[in-house]
Amino acid sequence: MEFKKVVQYRQSIRAFKDEQIPDNFVSEILECGMKAPIGKGEYNRYTLLVLQGDKLKTFQKMLIAKTGHDETYNSPLLILVMAIILRPELDYQNTGCILENMCLEATNLTYGSTYLWSVARILQENKDLKNYLGIDENTTVLGGVTIGKPTDEYKFIDKEHKIKVIYQ
Ligand SMILES: Cc1cc2nc3c(=O)[nH]c(=O)nc-3n(C[C@H](O)[C@H](O)[C@H](O)COP(=O)(O)O)c2cc1C
Repeated sequence: MEFKKVVQYRQSIRAFKDEQIPDNFVSEILECGMKAPIGKGEYNRYTLLVLQGDKLKTFQKMLIAKTGHDETYNSPLLILVMAIILRPELDYQNTGCILENMCLEATNLTYGSTYLWSVARILQENKDLKNYLGIDENTTVLGGVTIGKPTDEYKFIDKEHKIKVIYQ
């Protein structure tokens, strides 16, 4: 897809078809995450945790049991970014770069995605959920992305998001 279209088409998708994403597409999405800029080039401090299939389905049930809501929107793929936090500002900015690259590549492959802070927050507050994912107590989940085929026909929405610009 043309780059400008990828940026325009990327929108948060919160309803997914029950369809697994082929492994080669998952790999391409991960690869794009890994090509993100990272402060000080410290790529080896971050880990991407990939959840699919039964493991993810059980996690989604645990989220509903805990919060009354599946914050992953019942998607077939959830990718979490995690690290042992050393410099919080850099860690969260780096996470944003990784996740946005993955969202854009998902769009490029005609998948829908949503950047998730909620799951990271819930994992911080619930040791049992972290344990289920095998995440040790020193490691923090910094953010995540939920990805899948959107339930509705993928429509281009002109989002008109506006951020103030000052020229000097
Ligand atoms: C840092 C960050 C955290 C977000 N956390 C969530 C979240 O936890 N749950 C959710 O449904 N959407 C989340 N979003 C998605 C935003 O709500 C969404 O990107 C924004 O409303 C703009 O809509 P769009 O993505 O369709 O352009 C998050 C986005 C960002 C950048």
